[in-house]
Amino acid sequence: MRLDIVTIFPDYLEPLNVSLVGKARARGLIDVRVHDLRQWTHDRHHTVDDTPYGGGPGMVMKPDPWGEALDSVLDSGQGEPVIVVPTPSGRPFTQELAVRLAEKPWLIFAPARYEGIDRRVIEEYDARPDVLEVLEVSIGDYVLAGGEAPVLVMVEAVARLLPGVLGNAESHRDDSFAPGAMAQLLEGPVYTKPPEWRGRAVPEVLLSGHHGKVARWRRDEALARTSRHRPELIEGADPEIFDKQDRAV
Ligand code: ADE
Repeated sequence: MRLDIVTIFPDYLEPLNVSLVGKARARGLIDVRVHDLRQWTHDRHHTVDDTPYGGGPGMVMKPDPWGEALDSVLDSGQGEPVIVVPTPSGRPFTQELAVRLAEKPWLIFAPARYEGIDRRVIEEYDARPDVLEVLEVSIGDYVLAGGEAPVLVMVEAVARLLPGVLGNAESHRDDSFAPGAMAQLLEGPVYTKPPEWRGRAVPEVLLSGHHGKVARWRRDEALARTSRHRPELIEGADPEIFDKQDRAV
């Protein structure tokens, strides 16, 4: 998978050299290219923002540098990319969207600072549905100072789904929000050695070696955690899913 990120803070993306994504890059599983938006400015001050039409606080990112940057990145590759624009007014970033993005060969991230990017940039690329897709995406109902942290979040969520990136191919099967047996439930608690720590024992059932009982316990814990932290997930769920899980464990 190829990932291009255009930003005015290339250093902000340094964490992509570390840990899971860093290793995947080193192993050639993902090709990450970070670009400084200011290289597509032509004035002495490398200006990327200006005051908003209609007034109001803050600054808006100018269309010219973004247009040149995105044209240049698009010209440098082949295939039909998805341009991901992080914004609190986008569609929610979910595990389902991460799975869909992980199937794409090429993602281009366009994180904004200030009050956002001039609307015409989104419209310009959104008007080419035959060759690319534009997705405005929010990582949650809070406002960050810019789209770089959301890019880190989305890249990590997508990268760990790519074949070969996680050590154990099974590791994301039981994720909270993953499609499958535990769909709609949050993951329950986990334990490792020693069997007793500060007087606290690991739940007996996990030491029993009884796979059926372990599966049922995990499922009950997942249900309890979900009803505590995210009751709306259970209320909104199709009861058939829980019946199916009941039959499976
Ligand atoms: N930019 C600022 N806040 C954001 C959010 N919650 N999601 C995506 N991009 C953002």
